[in-house]
Amino acid sequence: MCAEGPRLLAISDLHVAHPENREILKGLEPARDGDWLIVAGDVAETMSDIEWALGELARRFETVIWTPGNHELWTPPGDPVQLRGLERYRHLVRLCRSLGVLTPEDPYPVWPSPGGPVTVAPMFLLYDYTFRPAGTYTKEQALDAAYEAGVVCTDEYLLHPDPHVSRDAWCRERVAYTGERLGELDGAATVLVNHWPLVREPTRVLRHPEFAQWCGTELTADWHVRFNAVAVVYGHLHIPRTTEYDGVRFEEVSVGYPREWRARPDRPDRLRTILPGRANA
Ligand SMILES: [Fe+2]
Ligand SMILES: [Fe+2]
Repeated sequence: MCAEGPRLLAISDLHVAHPENREILKGLEPARDGDWLIVAGDVAETMSDIEWALGELARRFETVIWTPGNHELWTPPGDPVQLRGLERYRHLVRLCRSLGVLTPEDPYPVWPSPGGPVTVAPMFLLYDYTFRPAGTYTKEQALDAAYEAGVVCTDEYLLHPDPHVSRDAWCRERVAYTGERLGELDGAATVLVNHWPLVREPTRVLRHPEFAQWCGTELTADWHVRFNAVAVVYGHLHIPRTTEYDGVRFEEVSVGYPREWRARPDRPDRLRTILPGRANA
């Protein structure tokens, strides 16, 4: 593979229920034969919108790798598919498989980087309310602070954890399952993909610090180092940017809502190149 070879690209938070975002998706194309696309969650809320969006992308890109966002896991009142929690996630995985899209439940694909193969690991980790606002020490205190500030994530009403007792219990189960799978890679180079950031630092710039408790878990704070990541891909914050923690590149690749991307100088339809990266060119 040379510099002109295929690329590993990424995007998230397409939110195609918005007609303007639907138009953005229609324009997403590989620039080179063999380009892969990571879709890091929040495609849409209804099963039919998700099927349309991922079906379109699967037809265009050689490989599409999806991981769920909180919006796919909602059970919206208007969706004819009223599955909740784990059953909804399993339904999404079946839908992806029918479209040829890879999910966190499939064997991890390997990107043939010139510097050596890189395992691309889509993960579904959720959050556990440990990114708490200053001065709060328990989940209950953190939630109280959020209700008081009027900053409550819609997940509290629409993202059901069934059959788990809570979203944080589901998160802990996903972290254990995923950590075990990543451990089996025996130190292979990885691109880690998760809708929510793996470390807390990116949430420090949120306008409402109370929102951070719905944005990840302290349990993954060292995963980018422990599992030898060359890059970490995430979304959810709707703050697209590139940062670095412990020498590892973190790419927030979200499109976000029309009112958000209209306010930014960058075009909303740019796919982020994950590989080749600076060290892997
Ligand atoms: Fe989003
Ligand atoms: Fe999200």
